[in-house]
Amino acid sequence: MTIVSNENRRSVGAVVLAAGMGTRMRSELPKVLHQVGGKPMVAHVLDTVMALSAKRLGVVVAPTHAAVTEAVRPTPTAVQKEPLGTAHAALSAASLFAGFDGDIFILFGDTPLITQETLQAMLDRRAAADRPTVVVLGMRPAGENAYGRLVVDEAGLLDRIVEYKDATEAERAIDLCNSGVMLVDGARLFDLLRQVGNDNAKGEYYLTDIVALARAEGGVCAVVEGEESELLGVNDRVDLAAAEAEYQRRRRLDAMRRGVTLVAPDTVFFADDVEIGRDVIVEPNVVFGPGARIESGAKIRAFSHVEGARVAAGAVIGPYARLRSGADIGEGARIGNFVEVKAAFVEAGAKANHLAYIGDARVGAGANIGAGTITCNYDGFGKHFTDIGKGAFIGSNTALVAPVSIGDGAIVGAGSTVDQDVPANSLGLVRAEQTNRPGWAEAFRARKARAKAEEAARKTSQNG
Ligand code: UD1
Ligand code: MG
Repeated sequence: MTIVSNENRRSVGAVVLAAGMGTRMRSELPKVLHQVGGKPMVAHVLDTVMALSAKRLGVVVAPTHAAVTEAVRPTPTAVQKEPLGTAHAALSAASLFAGFDGDIFILFGDTPLITQETLQAMLDRRAAADRPTVVVLGMRPAGENAYGRLVVDEAGLLDRIVEYKDATEAERAIDLCNSGVMLVDGARLFDLLRQVGNDNAKGEYYLTDIVALARAEGGVCAVVEGEESELLGVNDRVDLAAAEAEYQRRRRLDAMRRGVTLVAPDTVFFADDVEIGRDVIVEPNVVFGPGARIESGAKIRAFSHVEGARVAAGAVIGPYARLRSGADIGEGARIGNFVEVKAAFVEAGAKANHLAYIGDARVGAGANIGAGTITCNYDGFGKHFTDIGKGAFIGSNTALVAPVSIGDGAIVGAGSTVDQDVPANSLGLVRAEQTNRPGWAEAFRARKARAKAEEAARKTSQNG
């Protein structure tokens, strides 16, 4: 066990390398902006390190990747003019760390699953009595791989890192590999990086060389081991899918541990910022997109899609419902099958159980929206509001042409196209009057049957 001294704790900084071209993604979008859990990979890394109260951050970007600079704002960025290797990339960030002598992490923008606990273990190791200059995050991958190898001494301290391409057969047989993540004494990092050369198999400036350089000046280097699943680096779309799968696996476990029932966990998907309260029941095949907030005791039935929406306690959504941004579903309300809600308050106890579109609207408490009701919120130019009062009843197949308001307790007759306000407690009815003609259908059928028989007889006599 390492003895950690709090006196040895320094403030935390991090350089996130994101200047690689990511050619294998075959994408117009810079690699680190591809999303996991609906959030760019580089943002995952930044959020994780920020959770450790990092005081100084910098992202290294390629000259052509203004979109990355834009996406990570307000985190400062440094441009690496040419991709000459990981040490060269880290050195590009030197000016962002002027006067900073805390502990500096070097992280990769394409390794989004790294956890706060693992980074904390590295900080703890750096604060131990032997004060390692460099702490490297190692891993023992299951299969064959081309990662750098960690060469350790009898005491388990790190001597050097050898890149796979430069390694001997004996070195390649080492199972302890370099994840790429490091924590370095900020007072030494940039001096060490300046000493790195490029006389190696790839002709690149290897970040990994700072280990041997730190040892040469009498420093200690140490290894902390992490899980391979956490250190998955994304190089192509297959890796991206694997990272997404691992991310979703974690989110499902986390939700269940917090008291959410997932009937079929493998079929439920979460965006990064989704919040779900206790005793929520989620049926199979549900997608929670960005901004979904589900409060305690709500039920999300099968095949529903919820994004940018709040669902209050005791509400029941679906099966087959779609909640879009700005949908706010009140306590005990019900949104049933094939109902879409956008930018609308559906107040407590209101119901829209079948086949409806409610957009840019308020549905008052306890109101009932009949099957096939549509708020006609868009006139081809702008969006308009529909206000439905408390306890109102909207008959089936009603078109509410916004802007329009239906008063508290009003009833709208089925099939109406309403473009004028309906006062409270009134009946609004917009349809042609019905006429019934007794016996008409019977006479109609007799007439048609007679004509058909006469036609058949004529054809027979012509052919004969
Ligand atoms: C690196 C490590 C290797 C480790 C592996 C783990 C070095 C020399 N090797 O190798 O020991 O096992 O990661 O995945 O560090 N980048 C830049 N600018 C550059 C080059 C890279 O910003 O000039 C960025 C990339 O965008 C990427 C990261 O640095 O995010 C790692 O670069 P990559 O080329 O993937 O390094 P590996 O060869 O995989
Ligand atoms: Mg790599």
